[in-house]
Amino acid sequence: MKLTWSLLTLAGLISPCLAKIYEDVSDLPGFEYDFVIVGGIKSNTLRGAAGNVVANRLTENPDFSVLVLEAGVSNEGVIDSIVPEFVEDLLTYNIYEWNYTTMPQIGLNNRTIPYWRAHILGGCTAHSESVFIYSWSLINLWRADGMIYTRGSAEDFNRYAAVTGDPGWSWDNMFPYFLKNEKWTPPADHHDTNGEFDPAVHSTDGINSVSLNGYPWPVFDHHVIQTTKELPEEFPFNLDFNSGHMLGVGWLQSTIGGGERSTSATSYLAPNFIQRDNLNVLLHAQVSRLVDPDKTTGELTFGGVEFLQGGSLFTAKATKEIILSVGSVGTPNILMHSGIGDSKALIALGIPSVLDLPSVGQNATEQPLLTAAWSVNSTQTLDSFTHNLTRFNEAYTEWNRTKTGPFVEGGVTHIAYMRLDADSPIFENVTDPSAGPDTPHIEIRMGTGAGFQPTSVLGAPTGHFMSMVQLKAATSGSITLQSNNPFDPPLVDLGLLKTDFDIYTVQEAVKRAYRFVQAPVWQDYIIAPVTDLSSLSTDALDEYMRNNASYASHLVSTASMSPKDASWGVVDPDLLLKQASGPFIPSAHIQAATYVVGERGADLIKERWK
Ligand SMILES: Cc1cc2nc3c(=O)[nH]c(=O)nc-3n(C[C@H](O)[C@H](O)[C@H](O)COP(=O)(O)OP(=O)(O)OC[C@H]3O[C@@H](n4cnc5c(N)ncnc54)[C@H](O)[C@@H]3O)c2cc1C
Ligand SMILES: *[C@@H]1O[C@H](CO)[C@@H](O)[C@H](O)[C@H]1NC(C)=O
Ligand SMILES: *[C@@H]1O[C@H](CO)[C@@H](O)[C@H](O)[C@H]1NC(C)=O
Ligand SMILES: *[C@@H]1O[C@H](CO)[C@@H](O)[C@H](O)[C@H]1NC(C)=O
Ligand SMILES: *[C@@H]1O[C@H](CO)[C@@H](O)[C@H](O)[C@H]1NC(C)=O
Ligand SMILES: *[C@@H]1O[C@H](CO)[C@@H](O)[C@H](O)[C@H]1NC(C)=O
Ligand SMILES: *[C@@H]1O[C@H](CO)[C@@H](O)[C@H](O)[C@H]1NC(C)=O
Ligand SMILES: *[C@@H]1O[C@H](CO)[C@@H](O)[C@H](O)[C@H]1NC(C)=O
Ligand SMILES: *[C@@H]1O[C@H](CO)[C@@H](O)[C@H](O)[C@H]1NC(C)=O
Repeated sequence: MKLTWSLLTLAGLISPCLAKIYEDVSDLPGFEYDFVIVGGIKSNTLRGAAGNVVANRLTENPDFSVLVLEAGVSNEGVIDSIVPEFVEDLLTYNIYEWNYTTMPQIGLNNRTIPYWRAHILGGCTAHSESVFIYSWSLINLWRADGMIYTRGSAEDFNRYAAVTGDPGWSWDNMFPYFLKNEKWTPPADHHDTNGEFDPAVHSTDGINSVSLNGYPWPVFDHHVIQTTKELPEEFPFNLDFNSGHMLGVGWLQSTIGGGERSTSATSYLAPNFIQRDNLNVLLHAQVSRLVDPDKTTGELTFGGVEFLQGGSLFTAKATKEIILSVGSVGTPNILMHSGIGDSKALIALGIPSVLDLPSVGQNATEQPLLTAAWSVNSTQTLDSFTHNLTRFNEAYTEWNRTKTGPFVEGGVTHIAYMRLDADSPIFENVTDPSAGPDTPHIEIRMGTGAGFQPTSVLGAPTGHFMSMVQLKAATSGSITLQSNNPFDPPLVDLGLLKTDFDIYTVQEAVKRAYRFVQAPVWQDYIIAPVTDLSSLSTDALDEYMRNNASYASHLVSTASMSPKDASWGVVDPDLLLKQASGPFIPSAHIQAATYVVGERGADLIKERWK
């Protein structure tokens, strides 16, 4: 034991910032910890947020030892993860990616599409919400990360509380966790932000940086706000859509601080935290399954987790709890390979059933995404920096020297949240899936630049553009297994555009976007739509959507929470695996929700081991 700690100290002298982040399993001081957390460290591409939050909060108690196992690579010095505008290398088939491809999507005319999940410390917070733009060479796509910070509606959280029977998940109870997570930060250009957000619902002393955009697009910004004055009934201004009341058009807030992307790795595993003696992180450690199931006490427990590094399998033991935070694809995958899931399906693959929980991997929910783009009579666009090598290099140099300029943000400037009309014909046959009358069905995000999606970008001519993206919650995808080999990728079915409601809502969102630019202020600005979606018949628009829609990277619900006595669900409201002991953080919502689930999850664990 003594020897181990003195070795650690030496390592600390050599590389103080990374003292506790190990690349090689042979450097790990031990294989037994109070808590073993799987996944979710600080990547710059995908989310992986929750695990780092729990690791940070648990190690506030010096008596707890924590090991984090992350399959991916270090985020340290990965420029595409640091520069908000870049994510070039992150979203292609490469070392920062899991390289998933979806099953043929029936709603997308059987297309299969790449499904991005980060394989890097920080998980998907490293490359959240993405914008595709032309690179200067017009050959490579640069995908910028939106890093969009939205909490959801108060009704969303109150519904979690109602559905799970635990008032702890209500908006009022979760609100302090948003404040605990958030470190409100001035934008990179230090402009006057009065009237662009409501300080009363933000916190400046949390951990994860959030800011307004730090580079202005004066004409575009003006036109958006002017639209809220010219068409206030349909597009009212909302000072702050993170107040619990989302409806209306508001200024974008992003997880960016000081001109750099803020991820769960750069925040919750910052040097001052990672230096704690009781926190170890091991990279390149892909967990295959939970091991040593034990039912002798009546309750199921697992002794540890098995992981692969460099072709060999190892086991890390947890004496208190194992926390699974490997995202909405990884979490059901590991559970099923551990024998937890639909027992019939698992046995058919030759995996012994340990716990029959048919909901594992089911009810997967993703959001379809469709881009509308217009060419514009303005050179004040993102394209003017990304189409032109001289200006691209100038902008990059400016970012490099002062962390300012057009590369300090992701390209989205504002978001409009709105509801379908109450008398929409779709409601004749479909129950409103939203959490309540103050919760949106449609999100339209807007910005300068050719588009937010590879297909639309590839189809767009050279020039200057603005674009909007429409999305809403879809239903009924799944994560299932193709074999009993834990290192085979799982089968990812997003269920995109499978329901009448999804198709209706995306069509309606397209109409809203076209009505938005009908405001008089856009008259001399917009030249023409890249593809005129407003002139398409319902059937033609339907076909266009199936051929061009993508997803928003918001997969949730594959390890869903349900009331303690429910016959469905994967975890109880305390995030413990049903009929078992040892907690599981579910893959939750978008990043802000993921952070607060991590925050409350950590509190629940601390409470259990007081
Ligand atoms: C391209 C993209 C853009 C997004 N944009 C936004 C946005 O703008 N705003 C927003 O709010 N949200 C956005 N999101 C969603 C947000 O990033 C996620 O909701 C959040 O990161 C989820 O966190 P998580 O911990 O559940 O999972 P993840 O972030 O997926 O993290 C899981 C981690 O576990 C690791 N892991 C997986 N399997 C294993 C294994 N077997 N062994 C060990 N480690 C493993 C992964 O490598 C990863 O680091 C985006 C997501 C993507 C993919
Ligand atoms: C994804 O593909 C790239 C390129 O083929 C490869 O280098 C990388 O290791 C793959 N990622 C994983 C998690 O296997
Ligand atoms: C998609 O695949 C299904 C199942 O194979 C098939 O029934 C359907 O006709 C296909 N749809 C299209 C548009 O090709
Ligand atoms: C999906 O979720 C609903 C609740 O929203 C639940 O009633 C249903 O049983 C779930 N299905 C599965 C397979 O878990
Ligand atoms: C662009 O705007 C200028 C005035 O600012 C006008 O002269 C020109 O005709 C416009 N071009 C187009 C294509 O609308
Ligand atoms: C590229 O930008 C430079 C610097 O602003 C400018 O001088 C040049 O005309 C631009 N080139 C094109 C093709 O627009
Ligand atoms: C960024 O700055 C570093 C030195 O501070 C320099 O080595 C590097 O070349 C710069 N990169 C760019 C793109 O300007
Ligand atoms: C609702 O369902 C009925 C019966 O199937 C059908 O006749 C009607 O057209 C549907 N309404 C809408 C708006 O789709
Ligand atoms: C979008 O859909 C249309 C019509 O279905 C199709 O012709 C077009 O090629 C698609 N665009 C892209 C960029 O795939």
